[in-house]
Amino acid sequence: RSASLVVDPAFTVGPVRRRTFGSFVEHLGRCVYTGIYEPGHPTSDEDGFREDVLALTRELGVSTIRYPGGNFVSGYRWEDGVGPVAERPRRLDLAWHSMDPNTVGTDEFMKWAAKAGIEPMMAVNLGTRGTEAALDLLEYCNIPADSAIAERRRANGADEPYRVKMWCLGNEMDGPWQIGHKTAHEYGRLAAETARAMRMMDPSIELVACGSSSRAMPTFGEWERTVLTQAWEFVDMVSAHAYYWERGDDLQSFLGSAVDMDRFIEQVAATADAVGAANKSEKVIGISFDEWNVWYQDRAESKPPTGDDWPVAPVLLEDNYSVADAVVVGNLLISLLRHTDRVWSANLAQLVNVIAPIMTVPGGKAWKQTIFHPFALTARHASGEVLRVHLDSPQLPTTEFGTIPALDAVATSGDGNLTVFLVNRSLDESVTTSLDLRGQEHDLIEALTLSNDDPRYQASAEDDDTVVPLPNRSVKLDGALVELTLPPASWTMVRLA
Ligand code: AHR
Repeated sequence: RSASLVVDPAFTVGPVRRRTFGSFVEHLGRCVYTGIYEPGHPTSDEDGFREDVLALTRELGVSTIRYPGGNFVSGYRWEDGVGPVAERPRRLDLAWHSMDPNTVGTDEFMKWAAKAGIEPMMAVNLGTRGTEAALDLLEYCNIPADSAIAERRRANGADEPYRVKMWCLGNEMDGPWQIGHKTAHEYGRLAAETARAMRMMDPSIELVACGSSSRAMPTFGEWERTVLTQAWEFVDMVSAHAYYWERGDDLQSFLGSAVDMDRFIEQVAATADAVGAANKSEKVIGISFDEWNVWYQDRAESKPPTGDDWPVAPVLLEDNYSVADAVVVGNLLISLLRHTDRVWSANLAQLVNVIAPIMTVPGGKAWKQTIFHPFALTARHASGEVLRVHLDSPQLPTTEFGTIPALDAVATSGDGNLTVFLVNRSLDESVTTSLDLRGQEHDLIEALTLSNDDPRYQASAEDDDTVVPLPNRSVKLDGALVELTLPPASWTMVRLA
């Protein structure tokens, strides 16, 4: 089968935003404890942070990290996590039925963020708490004046404010599983008033209102409309969360998951624009896709402990990813980039151990899951402007998404380089693809493809360097025409200069 793509530097969508390549650290399972933080580990630094995880975080190329949750944040008292460690309380975390020793809190996270070279993105608790606690945390983080709570930060060793820019107004408040779950109307009012007060304290911040926890939520659409109607003036972005997994052995449908993300983004944008029209407003609300990934929610590892068992850092949500999962992750990144005009920020959920590209063995090595590779390569090589790609692809029938194009692609162009990211979503057939560069002659830097004869192959701590993106030997370049073959269920990056 064959396909053709036209890539023209004039077809720009918008800039490649570094914030597209964010990730997420939640107090959940082993993400923090034995993930980023493990005092006594052979690579741990003077603050207890694992250097091997820091090195992989840098290699992954993440820009922003959302913290501290997630469902966790809706029961969190941020004050528990600051001040002398010996005096911090052990608290029940109701979201994940775990014990939090609070050894890591805001100041530790900020220290880790500086070492990792990432931008922190904070979430406030609008579940059990409200405007006052959100203001106190903002004061602690961002205020240079000598007010009581800013002085507390100084006493805890941080003279300079952290000046955190992006703030999430709660987490997944549309979900009945959320502590303090609210109706759209209740949440919209609280988000609007909290946002208004937070802006009075620090007008430079960017605020994200909770959108829907997935496109399948019964309130999807109406939730966004109601929340944005109430909070229109005070927020910059609305969030979207999406997790995909193979259901009922239907790998072919699963490989088409990015179709759902495309529709999700477009429907949230349309809803926000409808609210703008009704408000007679020129303002544009962006989308913060602040949780996305593959997550096998029906597996036992996703179920928290029960009863009297309240463990510290239990094994939770430790999905082991396959090559097919990595192709889906690569495709979801293509979808996010293609919508760069509307998606202003995004976070792969999560960073370490919990549905994560980076895994750790306590006391042992840190290793890369399959999904690490498309993320790291896209984060490293997408630059300049995102280009819309004109695609003529064979069609692919799927049970879940109907008939979809077998191929998907996006391109970026910057610093004289053109980079094309492609996926072949067909499980059975390879596709020979021509890239028409519209008369612009290029040299080939590299063409890398991630695929495997067994798309269900999963990397492990012992062999995480066995199945990695490899040079695509089929690539031919003739002036302004590239030709290459994309194997079934594969992700590819073509770099041209
Ligand atoms: O990322 C795991 C969980 O997924 C988060 O805590 C929650 O926000 C979402 O449901």
